[in-house]
Amino acid sequence: EAKLKLFGVQDDLKLSLNAIQVLRERYLLKDQEGNPVETPRQMMERVANAIAQIDASYGEDPEVSYQEFLKTLMALDFLPNSPTLMNAGCPGGQLAACFVLPVEDSLDAIFEALKNMALIHKSGGGTGFSFSRLRPRGDRVSSTGGRASGPVSFMRIFDTATDVVKQGGKRRGANMGILRFNHPDILEFIQAKKKGGEFENFNFSVAITDQEMEAVRKNEKIPLINPRDGRVWREVSATEIFNVICESAWSSGEPGCIFIDEINRKHPLKALGAIEATNPCGEVPLLPFESCNLGSINLAHMVTEGKIDYAKLGETVRVAVHFLDNVIDANYHPLPETERMAKANRKIGLGVMGFADLLVKIGVPYYSQQALKIAEEIMQYIMLQARKTSLELASRRGTFPNLEKSTWYTQNLPLRNATLTSIAPTGSISIIAGCSSGIEPYFALSFRRYVLENTELIEVNPLLEEYLKGLKLSQKDWERILAQGTLQGIEQIPQKVKDLFRTALEIPPEFQVKVQAAFQKYVDNAVSKTINLPQNASLEEVKKVFFLAHETHCKGITVFRQGSRSRQAIYPGLLS
Ligand code: CDP
Repeated sequence: EAKLKLFGVQDDLKLSLNAIQVLRERYLLKDQEGNPVETPRQMMERVANAIAQIDASYGEDPEVSYQEFLKTLMALDFLPNSPTLMNAGCPGGQLAACFVLPVEDSLDAIFEALKNMALIHKSGGGTGFSFSRLRPRGDRVSSTGGRASGPVSFMRIFDTATDVVKQGGKRRGANMGILRFNHPDILEFIQAKKKGGEFENFNFSVAITDQEMEAVRKNEKIPLINPRDGRVWREVSATEIFNVICESAWSSGEPGCIFIDEINRKHPLKALGAIEATNPCGEVPLLPFESCNLGSINLAHMVTEGKIDYAKLGETVRVAVHFLDNVIDANYHPLPETERMAKANRKIGLGVMGFADLLVKIGVPYYSQQALKIAEEIMQYIMLQARKTSLELASRRGTFPNLEKSTWYTQNLPLRNATLTSIAPTGSISIIAGCSSGIEPYFALSFRRYVLENTELIEVNPLLEEYLKGLKLSQKDWERILAQGTLQGIEQIPQKVKDLFRTALEIPPEFQVKVQAAFQKYVDNAVSKTINLPQNASLEEVKKVFFLAHETHCKGITVFRQGSRSRQAIYPGLLS
């Protein structure tokens, strides 16, 4: 009732206030005046129906799938990425979240990429680019006799165009900009976001090889190479560049690193070329013009009587993989090239959200060896079940067309999908599902979040109350918990409960890397995780985290030191 009054939306799925507000702003279909014309349940029906219909084209019965999809979505056991929720069943609906576009070293190619980016953003997708092929600033332009502007200048145009083209009219576009560690303009790139006010639609990542990491460790010199002619531009100290990356990451959270050799070692489609870029949040390395549609299982719902419910998890994986495979066919692509690639490789990215919630529900602290073990166990199970379903789908519908060019072929795995798993940040869909995001620990037990324009969302951990109920806390204690967003300093709360509700800033960064590595072990694509550091973390700490991520076979790394940006998307506690 209150929700109907507040937001004009009938809550027929028993969602949280924030979920209703986010759905109202961005997901529910609206009439010309901007009033919602569907309820949350009707949205799920629209999505389940549009995706189930694909079964008919394979001679299967869509009605059975419709019921399975609808049940799973309505229970919030699994949600697809935002574009699928927003656009499925709508004419021309684009359903994938992630794209990578090539940028070649010519004006023609650069502006072609820019146009393609605009079309993808308009359709609701995010884009990743490697700018490593562009000649450096000051290099020769033979046709005009002039001097080149360099990758960072061109990126500025992509950033501005992103500002102008809103993603499907619903959110601003997201981009990943990548430059190779040995590009002559690397220092300019690393520091481009430092002064702020620019590139707010970009995440920056440096692509670094194993050999370069080794040169950093040994304090060796490396040549910077002009990609236009392959000649050495100048020699620099690898350690110095690495230090500038870490200093910049310490002071502004950017750039991150992607470990490009690890990505290519695990790349199943090597015959089609090497991977140079990832999508905006890093969880999907892709070839030029590839895209990926994502979906996440809500692990908070995979617990029965204090234990992980593997039967339910397995069944949810089966439904989710079937669903995501259908999305590839239901998708309307903004570019013919992306359609061709999506249908040739049929990549999907099934992941998880609510991992922190699951741990609380089974009574295991996030910061514990056991949590690492559980992370591996769950993800291995999901990977195996996903493969099983993909093999079954292939036996009915055929393998992905490029199977014979993939490493799966040599392993004798006739899969339907070139990749199956990926761990997304689930920034919006975890709000809809009312669970913790991705595989992150709780950022805080109460916090303010700014994901909608001009709207502050206040959240208090929904599991906390249950644990604190019996403790007879004073009004003052409660106020303190809500104000600071942690249980620190509240004497009455037993250590066991404090351990269960430890927040990101109370968990050592190295341990957070280990959680990322544990999931990565069983993920085909990559894992999105922010390594949260307290405000007083040192530069050395940041370096350690980068090295550890590389050593433990992560595919990339992003750190965020509390307070290092003038504006954050999320703040702990309810005090400003
Ligand atoms: O929760 P939701 O499905 O909205 O997205 P997410 O898991 O936070 O992000 C998954 C991917 O969606 C990102 O890596 C981007 O590729 C894309 N994305 C985007 O294009 N624009 C945004 N504003 C947020 C995410």
